[in-house]
Amino acid sequence: MAYKRGALIVLEGVDRAGKTTQCKKLVDALSQCGHFAELLRFPERTTEVGQLVGSYLEKRINLEDHTVHLLFSANRWEHVPLIKDKLNNGITLVVDRYAFSGVAFTSAKEKFSLEWCKQPDVGLPKPDLILFLQLNPMEATKRGDFGNERYENSSFQERVLHRFFQLMEDETLNWKVVDASKNIEDLHKEIRSLSEDAIQEAQDKPLGELWTEE
Ligand SMILES: Nc1ncnc2c1ncn2[C@@H]1O[C@H](COP(=O)(O)OP(=O)(O)OP(=O)(O)O)[C@@H](O)[C@H]1O
Ligand SMILES: [Mg+2]
Repeated sequence: MAYKRGALIVLEGVDRAGKTTQCKKLVDALSQCGHFAELLRFPERTTEVGQLVGSYLEKRINLEDHTVHLLFSANRWEHVPLIKDKLNNGITLVVDRYAFSGVAFTSAKEKFSLEWCKQPDVGLPKPDLILFLQLNPMEATKRGDFGNERYENSSFQERVLHRFFQLMEDETLNWKVVDASKNIEDLHKEIRSLSEDAIQEAQDKPLGELWTEE
């Protein structure tokens, strides 16, 4: 079969775990060894929906909590045609945050269940690999103070982390937890090796759907 699709690789983790640093290094390394690889991030603030989300995060506007959750999800859905197109053309996508951040952050707020938060993202392209960059809050603090965006405070981040652990209990997903306290190069090598394996495995398998019964 000539069908060789790209892999959907997602990096998740608490704030300052090193996601953006590692996403960029991974795309560069994969490209250099002959893979087609591209970077994507959520929220993607360049679309109209993304601009609303960006304004909310930068505290320039306030939005009702359910509304903003649905906007974060819409921002992923509006990129689904592009994601499928790239993967079908053999391009591996390295994604800086995805539905898991969306669910972990909203469900860390009062009165939001994990189940309710997952619903809008049910059926999104299912990642072939989700790398969770694990870093304890003390280590994260050493990497600089929180910025001024919404959600950037340590008690909220603790609640987010707890929700991530609940999401990781789902064995239908290929979660790999990596120790983000390692130095940038060592962590990169580990992430690269896990990604190479995922690319090999994904190429002959159809793309799945997130959080649907299989
Ligand atoms: N393994 C590492 N060891 C020490 N410092 C690191 C490591 N990885 C990244 N950093 C530094 O920590 C800071 C945060 O890194 P980065 O922006 O990649 O994290 P992030 O997970 O994308 O954060 P955010 O959630 O805020 O987007 C940067 O200053 C970066 O240079
Ligand atoms: Mg980042």
